[in-house]
Amino acid sequence: MQGFAGKVAVVTGAGSGIGQALAIELGRSGAHVAISDVDAEGLATTEERLKAIGAQVKSDRLDVTEREAFQLYADGVAEHFGKVNQIYNNAGIAFTGDIEISQYKDIERVMDVDFWGVVNGTKSFLPHLIASGDGHVVNISSVFGLFAVPGQGAYNAAKFAVRGFTEALRQEMTLAKHPVKVTCVHPGGIKTAIARNATAAEGVDASEMAQTFDKKLASTTPEKAAKIILDGVRKNKAKVLVGTDAKIFDIVTRTVGAGYQSVLPKIMSKLAPPTH
Ligand SMILES: NC(=O)c1ccc[n+]([C@@H]2O[C@H](COP(=O)([O-])OP(=O)(O)OC[C@H]3O[C@@H](n4cnc5c(N)ncnc54)[C@H](O)[C@@H]3O)[C@@H](O)[C@H]2O)c1
Repeated sequence: MQGFAGKVAVVTGAGSGIGQALAIELGRSGAHVAISDVDAEGLATTEERLKAIGAQVKSDRLDVTEREAFQLYADGVAEHFGKVNQIYNNAGIAFTGDIEISQYKDIERVMDVDFWGVVNGTKSFLPHLIASGDGHVVNISSVFGLFAVPGQGAYNAAKFAVRGFTEALRQEMTLAKHPVKVTCVHPGGIKTAIARNATAAEGVDASEMAQTFDKKLASTTPEKAAKIILDGVRKNKAKVLVGTDAKIFDIVTRTVGAGYQSVLPKIMSKLAPPTH
């Protein structure tokens, strides 16, 4: 893919799924890649695959919720490669359960990783991206950042928050005349481990939910998702929809407005197991 050769790209949550595919596609496109994850095994696999391609790679354990560590990490990446051009704030977790039965700690955990992880990554790297003269922040939201569904209140809150944060940042970078592009990504169902790694509220069957996701909802491969995301980055798109499902949901929710909230519960009750 054109436009990435010699760029330094940072990918969080690069040990699995979309993050792993993004890192490998970036490496194939000639980027130097800084990868991180909390999962050492997955991260080692990504590192091996990048090295096999011949990409320059820096691999570190990083928990995106640890703000001070993130700041030190950003400085370390900039020092290692001499510059940083792109950050893909990708690390994320899922949690299923109606708000009524979700514990505060469950909601906070999702916000910590899926929202604050993105804030920590963006703010830690922003000075380096500005200094590079050619920066790009790529934040991974979700279709669940475009519309809400029952049982995903915490995840919806985090992904809507990522969208608001990212859309504001794009406008701010333009107004401030900073050389930093900003893209918000909304994947539909992608065939990754996200649902299998997910937790659930007490009484909600997480494994049944994961099976439903794997069999009925996940339709796009992570490799295809990575190609779509990088194409959107190359074109400096404000919003990238990943998968036909994402495109359809986007059109439907924009067309019917808040009316989607009376239709979705009926569809979800047929598609997915109970979340309460
Ligand atoms: N798979 C989908 O259908 C889908 C749809 C929309 C959005 N997304 C988003 O895409 C992103 C990637 O998810 P995926 O589907 O590839 O899932 P995945 O579970 O395959 O990969 C997520 C990675 O993030 C890492 N991670 C989790 N918590 C972390 C933390 N605190 N610090 C650092 N790393 C952490 C995990 O170890 C894992 O390697 C997430 O933000 C997710 O919300 C996924």
